[in-house]
Amino acid sequence: MRIDVVTIFPDYLRALELSLIGRATTGGPLEIGIHDLRKWTHDRHRTVDDTPIGGGAGMVMKPDVWGEALDELLSAPPPARPDHEADQGGQGGGPSQGGAPVLIIPTPSGEVLTQRIAEDLATREHLVMACGRYEGIDARVAEHYASRGVEVRELSIGDYVLNGGEAAALVIIEAVARLLPGVLGNPDSVVEESHGASGLLEYPVHTRPVSWRGLEPDPALLSGDHGRIRRLRRDQAIARTAQRRPDLISRLDPASLDSADRAA
Ligand code: ADE
Repeated sequence: MRIDVVTIFPDYLRALELSLIGRATTGGPLEIGIHDLRKWTHDRHRTVDDTPIGGGAGMVMKPDVWGEALDELLSAPPPARPDHEADQGGQGGGPSQGGAPVLIIPTPSGEVLTQRIAEDLATREHLVMACGRYEGIDARVAEHYASRGVEVRELSIGDYVLNGGEAAALVIIEAVARLLPGVLGNPDSVVEESHGASGLLEYPVHTRPVSWRGLEPDPALLSGDHGRIRRLRRDQAIARTAQRRPDLISRLDPASLDSADRAA
């Protein structure tokens, strides 16, 4: 997968050089390009914003500058795929969405990012992310590319407002990149986590020492009885989800619950 990010703060994205994502970009399944939006300006001041038409607070990012940047990046050919990946799609075995780039615009007025959206994006070959600042990017930019058949996803990472799209882009990239085959050391890590197939939050986890500051995990975890451990963890996941995220409980498929689940 290739991800191109356009921003006026390229250094903000340097965190992508670290840890598992950084490793995935050095000979791994991910290529990342960070681009300074000002490269596509033509005036002496390298202007990227202007006052809002119709008045109001703040500044709006100019569509003409974004248009030049995105025309160039959206028309770049996708990276060559190794033979064994051709026509297989991404993780999960779903159909490949092909090499058509997806334009992602992080914005607090977007659709809220979910694990399902991250899973879908992880099947794509090319993501182009447009990080706005100030009051955002002129709305015609999203409209223009959508009308030309580009898949445009305006995504929010939650119901709060950040100063720009960069932190949100980091979140989206991490949520997507960790799903690419070979990025996580242990692929099982993505199987049982929160927001996975069970629809529940993950159960609490513990490690040694068994007793710490007078606190001990449930003794069932030390029993070696895998059936008992599985049951305990499921009960804990249900209790935790009911307490913290009742909205997730009400969305559970009743057919996914057994009689012990209902008792929990
Ligand atoms: N830009 C500013 N706030 C944001 C948010 N909550 N999500 C995505 N992009 C943003």
